[in-house]
Amino acid sequence: MINSDSNNCNTLKMKKLIITLLLGSCLLLSEAQNKVYLNADSAKTKISKHIYGHFAEHVGGNIYGGMYVGEENTTIPHTNGVRNDVIKALQDLHIPNLRWPGGCFADTYHWKDAIGQKSERKPIENMSWGNYREDNSFGTNEFLNLCELLGAEPYLAVNMNSGTVQEAVEWVQYANHANGTSYLTDLRKKNGRDTPWKVTFWGIGNESWDCGGHMTADYYINLYKRYATAMTSYFNSENLFRIAVGPGFPDYDWTETIMRDVPARRIEGLSIHHYAVNWDHKSSSYEFNDEEYYTTMKSAWFMDEFITKNCEVMDKYDPEKRVALIVDEWGGWYDPIPNVKGALYQQNTIRDALIAGLTLNIFNNHADRVRMANLAQTVNALQSVILTQDEKMILTPTYHVMEMYKVHQDALLVPANVISEDVVRNDKKLQALSVSASIDESGKMHISLTNIDNKNNQKVEIEIEGYTPKNVTGRMLTSTKIQDHNTFDSPEKVVPSDFNETKLSKNNLIINMPPNSVVVLELDK
Ligand code: AHR
Repeated sequence: MINSDSNNCNTLKMKKLIITLLLGSCLLLSEAQNKVYLNADSAKTKISKHIYGHFAEHVGGNIYGGMYVGEENTTIPHTNGVRNDVIKALQDLHIPNLRWPGGCFADTYHWKDAIGQKSERKPIENMSWGNYREDNSFGTNEFLNLCELLGAEPYLAVNMNSGTVQEAVEWVQYANHANGTSYLTDLRKKNGRDTPWKVTFWGIGNESWDCGGHMTADYYINLYKRYATAMTSYFNSENLFRIAVGPGFPDYDWTETIMRDVPARRIEGLSIHHYAVNWDHKSSSYEFNDEEYYTTMKSAWFMDEFITKNCEVMDKYDPEKRVALIVDEWGGWYDPIPNVKGALYQQNTIRDALIAGLTLNIFNNHADRVRMANLAQTVNALQSVILTQDEKMILTPTYHVMEMYKVHQDALLVPANVISEDVVRNDKKLQALSVSASIDESGKMHISLTNIDNKNNQKVEIEIEGYTPKNVTGRMLTSTKIQDHNTFDSPEKVVPSDFNETKLSKNNLIINMPPNSVVVLELDK
């Protein structure tokens, strides 16, 4: 295929003007440094839409002063106190699930303090994130109603450190049991909600090896079993999906202990956390140098190894892959911008777009075991998809990547074999290219690619077996500098554009990706 197209180029050599016009595509054909082999015949594993989930902890300006502006004393258009622009933006993402109320915060949170008449709710001191007082006006009803509005499944994090088993059991009854069955369901009715919300996802503890109680794995497991047993009836008739705490560092012994010692019928998911961060030197979220950039990207790439090694342990005890691996906290973590929106407020640049694209490709490619993930976090905290300032709201580069990648939700993974150039900077050697692909219900194939090289284009030759595309279109997110980002004065500096650097010839596709770019291709048969 390449030869025949090269011949075409040769015959055009005389015609200088045409040569100039075609030079780009000749180069495309002869110099692809990267090769991707896709096998559509092996597309069998579903990429769970829940990989595209989000996380809304009570931290900084994420809930209060972020998505939630309250029902009174605000001129910002809202529905039940939640900003309409935020609701619309999240709906446009097809947000599949939302984790709440933490994080570390969850292990200090008592859900009963935040139900009923707002004026009578007991406030909470947010001891995890700055000791400020929250009036608890955004509680269980508000969160679960918001999820309904978003069309997202709620994922509740149970307080295992300072809470009780009884509190957790009653939370399940309040949220899930049929009207009239208990004092808790009467209470729900009194609080304006007749029918249960039917919450499926329940996290039991959070980082129990750290802020969640500094427990050993053995201690955690005994406690976990008490919660996981009491929260369900003997036959687990509520169909709860119970998620145990896994490691947040390469502590595979923790994973081993859980998988070995928790009875199979008491666990549906194991959560791991990994941030793209250099804990010794976090760096500014928008004024960083090349060294800091590649350090972050190295940490982002570590996600692949972290998942692979956890999967190896899980496969030993659960070869049928019944227990899902849930990456319920991931994203870039930098120095907070001082005096803005409280703890963990950071800007979001092209670096974050690349972290998102790369990480989602990793998740997709592990779809057989990774069946849920939650980007940390949603609004004004860590790698947010949305930033707000008074009545203004902006979408971050990460938002645009999540939006471009939503085509993979519930599609069938097309296994990809990738031969990539390396980016070599100082002591770091990183794979420049990441790729994942899927086929959706309508038969369209989507291929998402990231080029983390911030200096060089990457030409990529993609060979597709078992699928002959007739047409290809593409979208791209990039900008001149990796530090580029959107601001309230310039909200559209970084937005997706059409990507046309493609050359399709039967089952062979050649593309040319600019430096620091995220590309999503759509192929039609
Ligand atoms: O997302 C911020 C914090 O990071 C969470 O509260 C905690 O679980 C993790 O350490």
